[in-house]
This record gives sequence, structure tokens and C-alpha cells, in this order.
Amino acid sequence: MALPIAVLVSGAGSNLQALIDRIEARVLDARITLVVSNRADAYGLVRARNHNLPLLCLPHGDYPDREAFDQAMARAIRQSGAKAVVLAGFLRMLTPAFLKAFPGMVVNIHPALLPSFPGVHGQGDAADYGVKLAGCTVHFVDEIMDHGPVIIQAAVPAHPEDDAQTLSARILAMEHRVFPQAIAWLAAGRLSVQGRKVRLASASKPLAKPLPNCLVNPPLEEGFA
Ligand code: GRF
Repeated sequence: MALPIAVLVSGAGSNLQALIDRIEARVLDARITLVVSNRADAYGLVRARNHNLPLLCLPHGDYPDREAFDQAMARAIRQSGAKAVVLAGFLRMLTPAFLKAFPGMVVNIHPALLPSFPGVHGQGDAADYGVKLAGCTVHFVDEIMDHGPVIIQAAVPAHPEDDAQTLSARILAMEHRVFPQAIAWLAAGRLSVQGRKVRLASASKPLAKPLPNCLVNPPLEEGFA
């Protein structure tokens, strides 16, 4: 049965779109029960509307504190029937109480090869540092920012000419692949966590035609490249 998921966004929502596209293409066995944004102007909400998905705008400024905001969000997510929460460019830390409401079922995407460059400027920080490899990480969420057990990472080249914008674009193209892939593994019950280690049941079969100029581990499966 398709995994019911809530997707949380704060901005453009291109990762939300990648999930929608893979669901509509029937390669990702999930169902979006709710899209939540903490910002009224998030383009992610427009994408949700375009695909007739239930959506909710909860401006965090309307709440006295983080706890109250998270409580309202958890209530709406639970009511939608979602079993997993997917952070697709959601720029707010979640409280421990929220995480306890969805144990082991909150997943985030970060545009850097964690544990390098956590925080909201991951791509720019990596470009300024002069790294030769950059990338993205999908991980389970714990109480520390950009910290929980790693599900999948993709590495791409970084060049001296790169700035935050050019590097972001290269990384984003991989985000749109690894994020739906990670959620597909979660939906299929293939992920297990022991401490910091995430194991993938029945190792994926590498693509017949690997993508050029990147390294993805565990490898992407057909339908996600
Ligand atoms: C992505 O780079 C994501 O990794 C980061 O914020 C960006 C969101 O992009 N957390 P979008 O809203 O999915 O287009």
C-alpha cells in the first residue's frame, strides 16, 4: 500500500515537484496527504494546488513559540493520515515533541555532503571553501540540525568558478533523484536504523546506464535516475 506522506516546504518546492512527478509516474509508491508551508508565498503551495493536493499554510509567526507551531502542524499532519513527514526545503527546526509524534519517520534533504556544511547556506559555504566534491544528503531527522542517520548521498564535482548559485543548480539536479529514491525505500520498508547506520534491505541493482559525473551511494534504482 502506498505510504501516506506529508511534505513540508518553505520555498520553491522543486523537491516536492520531484516527489509528485515520481508518484504520478508510479515509480514512487507514496501518497501525499498534505503539503504544509510555514510561508504563505512559498511556490511549493502553488505546485501542490496545481496537482490538487491538500495543502495548509501555517505562518510560524502566528504562534507564540516553536512548541505551539509544531503542535498545530503535527495535529494537521496526523489528521491527514500521513505516516511519514518529508522535509523538502523546510527551513525550520522541529521540536523533540514533533519528532516523537512520528518516530523514525521524518526525513530531510540537505544540499551538502554531511557532516560538512550543515545549515542554510550549505552550497555557498562549500563553494567558498573550494571543495572539489559537493553534493546532497538525505537523512532521518533527529533533534540536532542536519545530523540524523544518513540514507543516501550524491556527490558532484565543484569547480573554482562555482558560486552558491551554480553549485546549487548542479546539486539540485541530484536532489531531485536521491530524494524520491530515499522515500521509495522508506515506503517499501527497506530502511533500518541502528545507531547512526542506515541499512538498505536487498541492495539496489546499479543502473544499466550510470549517470555521468556523479557518485551516488547506495546506487539509484531504475526509475529514479
Ligand atoms: C534544496 O536545496 C534543499 O536541499 C534545501 O533547500 C532547497 C529547497 O529547494 N533544504 P526546493 O524548495 O525543493 O526547490
